[in-house]
Amino acid sequence: MSGPVRVALAGLGWWGQKITAVLQAAPDEVTIVRAIEPNAEFAMAFEKAHGIPVTAELDAALVDPDVEAVLLVTPHSLHAAQIAACVAAGKHVFCEKPLAMTRAAAVAAVDAVEAAGLILATGHERRYEPPIARMIAAADRGEMGRLMQFDATFSHDKFLSLDPTNWRLGAGDAPAAGMTATGIHLLDLAVRLMGPAKSVICSCETLASELPQGDTISAFVMFKGGGTATIAANLAMPFVSRCSLFGSEAWIDVRDRAHVEAPDGWVVTSARKGGKIEVEEVGPAEPVRDNIVAFARAIRGQAAYPITTGQMIETAALLEAIVSSSKSGELVTL
Ligand SMILES: NC(=O)c1ccc[n+]([C@@H]2O[C@H](COP(=O)([O-])OP(=O)(O)OC[C@H]3O[C@@H](n4cnc5c(N)ncnc54)[C@H](O)[C@@H]3O)[C@@H](O)[C@H]2O)c1
Repeated sequence: MSGPVRVALAGLGWWGQKITAVLQAAPDEVTIVRAIEPNAEFAMAFEKAHGIPVTAELDAALVDPDVEAVLLVTPHSLHAAQIAACVAAGKHVFCEKPLAMTRAAAVAAVDAVEAAGLILATGHERRYEPPIARMIAAADRGEMGRLMQFDATFSHDKFLSLDPTNWRLGAGDAPAAGMTATGIHLLDLAVRLMGPAKSVICSCETLASELPQGDTISAFVMFKGGGTATIAANLAMPFVSRCSLFGSEAWIDVRDRAHVEAPDGWVVTSARKGGKIEVEEVGPAEPVRDNIVAFARAIRGQAAYPITTGQMIETAALLEAIVSSSKSGELVTL
């Protein structure tokens, strides 16, 4: 097949609307042919704004031969069953993060997709932030020397104003403070840079909210290949997002100037052995669009999707261990 990949968009909430907006700038790559949204008010508003048909149930899209792929932008606890249904219907799947809450669920998704010869992608757009892409490339080329530590935080208090019954604040969909909301992006980067995790120990506390599953989490991760990561994700502080990679030859620190919802560029601080500390401003980009375009190009056979299924499984395994340690406070071995 050629031309833009024809997708069904499931979930028209905060992020489904963001994805709709960014894909309007990639009409040659992806086109939304239908949407799925059980909230009738959201569904009607979307149909009116975009002229795209919306149904309440995913099944209608799965039997539509015009749909090549599904973008799942739905609550976390729905992802596993929705991926399985899409794959059974022969549709490629882009699933928002977390792709899976456990190693077993990630393995099931990957096995199903691979057996069906389909493409699986996930919403870790941080890999497409230009300074992060440069960090990964520098590490891969060996320019940073032996990678030793990854230290990152990604927090915001956007969800505190939601109704307390919202799934975003529930321990089932969103355990371990901000780990499924924001920290999961850092787990993907940590696994990409440092490899599979060996063990993790967390502190998870409720310090400035009423959230029973915590608003403040810090995870200390040890990797099978050596090296460590410290990862924080807080649900009760003003927006902050930064990550640093430290190697024996160089280090790089990337600070976001704004949330990826409305990208405003990055401040990159770095140093090489024997050199001065350099500070650089990097202009805005649209990584959410670029990640979905990469999914579309993989479907068309133009380039492999860069987040490997092995990395998806290791990230899910690390999330599962973090959730476990967030409850017990004990070291969890993967
Ligand atoms: N990649 C990112 O940076 C990023 C940012 C924000 C959210 N997300 C992810 O996007 C997903 C959705 O988050 P959100 O913030 O938009 O939540 P949201 O609550 O604003 O939207 C979710 C929508 O899904 C709808 N929905 C519920 N059940 C459904 C079903 N069975 N089929 C189709 N739609 C259904 C809800 O009615 C709601 O409109 C989550 O996985 C979240 O982690 C990713």
